[in-house]
Amino acid sequence: MSIYSAPAKIILYGEHAVVYGTAAIAAPIPDLRAFAITRSGEAGQGLVIRAIDSGHELSVDLAAEVDDALVEMAQRVLRHLNVEPPDALIELRSDIPIASGLGSGAAISTALARALAACCGQTLSREELNGLVYALERRHHGTPSGIDNTVVVYETPILFRNREDFEPFRARTPLRIVIGDTGIHAPTKESVGDVRRLYNADPQGIERKLRAIGVCVESARRALEIGDLVSAGHLMVENHMVLRELTVSSIELDRLVEAALGAGALGAKMSGGGRGGNMIALVTAETEEGVRAALEEAGAVRVWVTEVR
Ligand code: MEV
Repeated sequence: MSIYSAPAKIILYGEHAVVYGTAAIAAPIPDLRAFAITRSGEAGQGLVIRAIDSGHELSVDLAAEVDDALVEMAQRVLRHLNVEPPDALIELRSDIPIASGLGSGAAISTALARALAACCGQTLSREELNGLVYALERRHHGTPSGIDNTVVVYETPILFRNREDFEPFRARTPLRIVIGDTGIHAPTKESVGDVRRLYNADPQGIERKLRAIGVCVESARRALEIGDLVSAGHLMVENHMVLRELTVSSIELDRLVEAALGAGALGAKMSGGGRGGNMIALVTAETEEGVRAALEEAGAVRVWVTEVR
């Protein structure tokens, strides 16, 4: 038995605008992960994927056209490696809530691909893996920028401009981030599609908002590089305000953002696709407990704390 895994992610600045070519900053959440556990199968059994959380069990046949993201991921990996399905059982389970802006789909796909390659006696480079996971995201999530799969596969904070242009990002001081989950499932595909409709109806107006987000990201990058957490916090709030104007926040997200700010967070914003899912707050050691309590009080169904370094 071997265990492979991949982390959840948060977007610190720049979601949605990044789909239109603006830079964004994202980070993994190392302690919140999806897992793939390999068990050797009996000869002739073929490849079986067991999704523990949903109770599904699926056989992978290279020839079959199946409308299932896990089977499709496995097929993509096997075709890429140019091998037949091994006799193996891969169990999947995840601690990352689905459709919550935390990159759960990318993390499961990444863990599965790593496990399957190992069952075939091979390893995938991060570039190969990133390409395979992106291809799946594209099929199931519309027009992804590629930031989610990149931060999940590389498992390091990144400054992402596009799929060919991203780099590790280091803030001068570690960032203490409290993450609050509204508990509302909201597929990223829908909010990205709605922003696209707004864009098509008013390209210049939306372009201005996307550029405003781009300015937040660039200013935040500079603030974080010199350890100016107060400015970095203000820029989170500015970024959130523009996302509200793009209609991708929600009453619940706004409530959690306000609660975090009221409890002394340096900044707070929705994170990811929005409309539900998660928000983040930048805190200090002194404000962390108060912010956590305020988020729970304001209706967060789960709260995590992570450090971005
Ligand atoms: C989702 O985590 C980030 C979005 O910008 C979509 C994308 O970049 O693919 C909303």
